[in-house]
Amino acid sequence: MGTPLVIAELRNAVPVVEPSLLACDFGRLAEEVQQLEAAGAQSFHLDIMDGHFVPNLSFGLPVVEAVRRVTTRPLDVHLMIDNPGRFLEAFRDAGADLLTVHVEVAERPDELLARIRSLGLAAGLTLNPDTPLAALEPYLSLCDLVLVMSVEPGFGGQRFRPVALEKLRRLRRRVGSDTLLSVDGGVNPETIRDCARAGADLFVVGTALLDYNPYQERLAELTALAKSTRDLEVEPW
Ligand code: DX5
Ligand code: ZN
Repeated sequence: MGTPLVIAELRNAVPVVEPSLLACDFGRLAEEVQQLEAAGAQSFHLDIMDGHFVPNLSFGLPVVEAVRRVTTRPLDVHLMIDNPGRFLEAFRDAGADLLTVHVEVAERPDELLARIRSLGLAAGLTLNPDTPLAALEPYLSLCDLVLVMSVEPGFGGQRFRPVALEKLRRLRRRVGSDTLLSVDGGVNPETIRDCARAGADLFVVGTALLDYNPYQERLAELTALAKSTRDLEVEPW
C-alpha cells in the first residue's frame, strides 16, 4: 500500500504547526476551527481521552464529526484510550484522516496499524515520555506517523520534557522521509526549535497557540521558528 494522501499532503507542508483543539473554546468550536484555518492551519489535532488510560476526559465522536463539518483539512486524531481497536471504524466514520494509538495499550500494535490502514486512514503510533523507544521499534515500518509525547498525556499546558528530543533524533535516523515525526506537549516558542533540530516534522501546539490571538501571527511565528532551525540543519533525511 502506498503512502496515504494525507501524509503526502502534510509532508509537502512541513514544518507543520498543528493546533490541538483541546485548548480551544468549545463554546465556539466551529468559529475556532475556521479562524485557525484562515490563520494558516494545515491540519488539526484532536485529543480523545477516556478517563482511564489517562486521568482526564476530553471529547469523543460527536465533536470529531462537528469539526469534520467545518473544515476539509486533515484531522489527526490522537487516541488516549484503552482498547482503541474498538473504535477505529467509528472514528473513521466521524471523519478522522489519521489515527494514532498508544503503544502502551496496544496488545498487537502491528494488527492495529494494519487495520487503520485498511480503513483507508493514515496510521500513527505514539509513546509516553517514560516508555522506551524500543517498545515502538518493531513497528516503525508500519507507521505513517510516529508521535513522540513530550508530556505525560492527559492535560494541556504542561512543561516540555527534553527526553522527547533524544527520541526524535533517534527516530529521525531510523525512519524514511515518508514517515512523519510529530511531537506533542509543551511545544512553544522556547521549545519548538529544539524539536525541529531533533527532526520533528509536525508540532502539536495547544495552549501556546490557542491562548494567543490573533492566531495568524502566532502560527506564523511558531512556523518561522521551526523553519529557521530546519534551514540550518544540514543533515539530510
Ligand atoms: C496532551 C495532549 C496534547 C495537548 C498539548 O495529553 O496530547 O495534544 O493538547 O497541549 P499543550 O500544547 O498545551 O502542551
Ligand atoms: Zn495529543
